Amino acid sequence: MYQEKTIIPIAGGKGGIGKSLLTANLAVSLAKMGHKTVVVDLDLGGSNLHTFLGLPGDQPGIGNFIHARKNQINDYVVSTPWKNLLFIPGDCSTPFTGNINHNKKRLLIKNLLSIQCRYLLLDLGAGSSYNTLDFFRMSDRGIVITTPEITAINNMLGFLNNFVFRSIERSLSNKPHTHSALKEIFHYKSGPGKNLSVESILKEIIALDPDAATEIQKTCLRYRPRLILNMGRHPDDLNKIENTFAATRKLLSLYTDPFGFVFDDPAVRESINHGMPLVEYDENCIASRSISHIAQRIVYVWDKTLDEPDQALLNHTRKFYEFIQKDSRQQSTLRFITSPLRNILPNLFN
Ligand SMILES: Nc1ncnc2c1ncn2[C@@H]1O[C@H](COP(=O)(O)OP(=O)(O)OP(=O)(O)O)[C@@H](O)[C@H]1O
Ligand SMILES: [Mg+2]
Repeated sequence: MYQEKTIIPIAGGKGGIGKSLLTANLAVSLAKMGHKTVVVDLDLGGSNLHTFLGLPGDQPGIGNFIHARKNQINDYVVSTPWKNLLFIPGDCSTPFTGNINHNKKRLLIKNLLSIQCRYLLLDLGAGSSYNTLDFFRMSDRGIVITTPEITAINNMLGFLNNFVFRSIERSLSNKPHTHSALKEIFHYKSGPGKNLSVESILKEIIALDPDAATEIQKTCLRYRPRLILNMGRHPDDLNKIENTFAATRKLLSLYTDPFGFVFDDPAVRESINHGMPLVEYDENCIASRSISHIAQRIVYVWDKTLDEPDQALLNHTRKFYEFIQKDSRQQSTLRFITSPLRNILPNLFN
């Protein structure tokens, strides 16, 4: 009935870096562009996506689906003020849903995969629990968010690390002998000072089970996460994640794409305090414009292989930065995002 659905899980490793903000506003943007979109709060134990959408937090959702004995995910779909957007709430009213067992998780994933729409967006929790990693594995191309802070970048790398090793481990689940050998390798090859790489795992597995080694290589090539830098203050912040691409390739045999840049913007906090999605509260503020740009890239380039570094993204971000420097309407935001520079180089801004 629909064009094939695109599933976009949104994760990041660190908490408080804008996963839910981006998920909610990308969902509204895609729906407003005319695409039938379903957005799901899968941050079990920390659900708050409804707040970013400006919706009440008292509706049954994933938590109730998990606790009920028999039901369908469609029973928990709620409408939103946007014609093309449906929402599945998280687990606000059901404690301890963060610790779901394997069977419940499989049932949940099966139900989520059956949802019919053009875009299925999944807001994931912080950290690298099996639940989060397995939700992220629902698509070959998920979004991973970081901010320019080194702690967030390290957590993003940690997330990708866990993601690749979990995917490899799952890919061998039907080969019990090789699977337990792999678990042994994880155990003695990782630890302080050791950088466990996919290459070194392959070296050991190839001698034991060549088919399994091929399977591992295929698994790594299958995934292509997209990176978004949130709360950036200058296009040069994109340089801070440049090393990530080489690092994931070298250690994890994983290719990642630079996909978006969202400016740090005081309008974000204002929109949350007003109980409205940012792109509705102020569609012209710089963070809204950054998010709309990402929504357009999802529609037009999601299925393409991107350049690395992505000149289109870099050029857009630089041009946009020049534009906001000239636009009087954006001056107060510009003052906000350049404030650390203002303190160091006050003359530049006089
Ligand atoms: N581009 C931005 N500009 C300014 N503030 C931002 C921006 N993005 C996010 N924030 C601020 O960061 C806060 C945390 O964002 P959000 O809740 O989306 O993070 P999260 O990664 O989903 O966190 P958690 O892991 O706890 O779910 C927001 O409430 C908002 O105040
Ligand atoms: Mg969140």
